[in-house]
Amino acid sequence: MSILPVPHTAIIVVAAGSGTRLEAGAPKAFVGIDNHTILRHALDGVFAAEPMQVIVVAPAGYEGDAESELLAAAGDRVDLGRVVTGGATRQESVAAGLDALWGDVTTVLVHDAARALTPPSVIDAVAAAVTNEAAALPVLPVVDTLKRVSDGVVTGAVDRSELAAAQTPQGFPRGTLESAYARAAEEGADYTDDAALFAAAGHAVRLVPGSERSFKITTPGDLERARTLLAAAPQATTEVRHHPGALGLPRVGVGTDVHAFGGDGDLWLAGLQWPGEQALSGHSDGDAVAHAIVDALLAAAGLGDIGTHFGTAHPEYAGAHADVFLSRTRELLADAGFVIGNVSVQFQGNRPRFSARRVEAERTLSAALGGAPVAVSATTTDALGFPGRGEGVAVTAVALVVSEGTRGS
Ligand code: CTP
Ligand code: MG
Repeated sequence: MSILPVPHTAIIVVAAGSGTRLEAGAPKAFVGIDNHTILRHALDGVFAAEPMQVIVVAPAGYEGDAESELLAAAGDRVDLGRVVTGGATRQESVAAGLDALWGDVTTVLVHDAARALTPPSVIDAVAAAVTNEAAALPVLPVVDTLKRVSDGVVTGAVDRSELAAAQTPQGFPRGTLESAYARAAEEGADYTDDAALFAAAGHAVRLVPGSERSFKITTPGDLERARTLLAAAPQATTEVRHHPGALGLPRVGVGTDVHAFGGDGDLWLAGLQWPGEQALSGHSDGDAVAHAIVDALLAAAGLGDIGTHFGTAHPEYAGAHADVFLSRTRELLADAGFVIGNVSVQFQGNRPRFSARRVEAERTLSAALGGAPVAVSATTTDALGFPGRGEGVAVTAVALVVSEGTRGS
């Protein structure tokens, strides 16, 4: 017997498409990413969010397979889930899901199973943003420069600041969504997503931040991207799922690094070249400040450490400077659904003298992290220990990161 209160929110996970563009020989939802299918990953994310009714819309003939995935993902929330049969279009599949809503449900989320790696925090943020009148739509800014084209030539420019890329889950007040669906069915109109259908009925749609991780698996290249992400960030997924605190709280991480003097050429430290100063030795440029920051950021996101991602197994990083390490680390965090809050780093050593270049170092490191503030401080150790004897330097960094979807809430 379930002791959970009946939830007022439901999520319809549409998984009834055939996956023509993926060309994987099976309906898309049942294609494996790693040892789990697209549907299983999508449902893992759903069940890591706040408890809600979960309706899986399966292709005809695959209801049993969908049921097995639901059971595996639901854990002790199995009473919240059920499977229904989908239709010929996405819109018909959503309508089949709407028919299965419990009476107490007032907020409905509609989610593509194909957005398999959507962070649970985004699901919760969408549900929280729905009001009696307005829908909630997760979006990402458009980064590409867009052109209007016709017959192989550019016919005009498009102002991308007026555009956003829509994702799912999209959240709606139940009654209004049901009326909008009834109206679309009467008119025989077909919409590509539910926010468009809802807006066409004259209702407001509010934006919430989406996530890079919520991309839709459509082509074989997208499937490859999902595989790479899971291989790079398995820990983050597990931690975000199983530690409820991680959904709402910022996370801190600490990193340290030590390098001995003795490398060739000029010193590279804190992303800056120091002509005339003795170089540090190391696999890359020996930039202990950058390396400590990388470790702090990875630790904060639960993504392992610098050796996991940049170790000697990656010859492409030999001789690389701070900007390469830091911008790649920022990408790893973004892929795992994290935004960098700020970084504080402290250097211990006799040389170089930081005071004259501290602001320059902070700007350089911050730029490599996409603008996140970086504070750099430096101290000597009163002639004690290896930094005091001038044998090398020691650096400590602390980083704060925030899970996407909980920003600003
Ligand atoms: N979907 C659905 N019922 C349909 C068509 C699509 O439930 N009749 C679902 C898909 O399973 C997917 C989501 O809607 O989770 C988004 O659709 P899309 O990415 O286009 O998936 P497919 O239609 O399966 O793929 P394709 O268009 O390449 O055939
Ligand atoms: Mg389709």
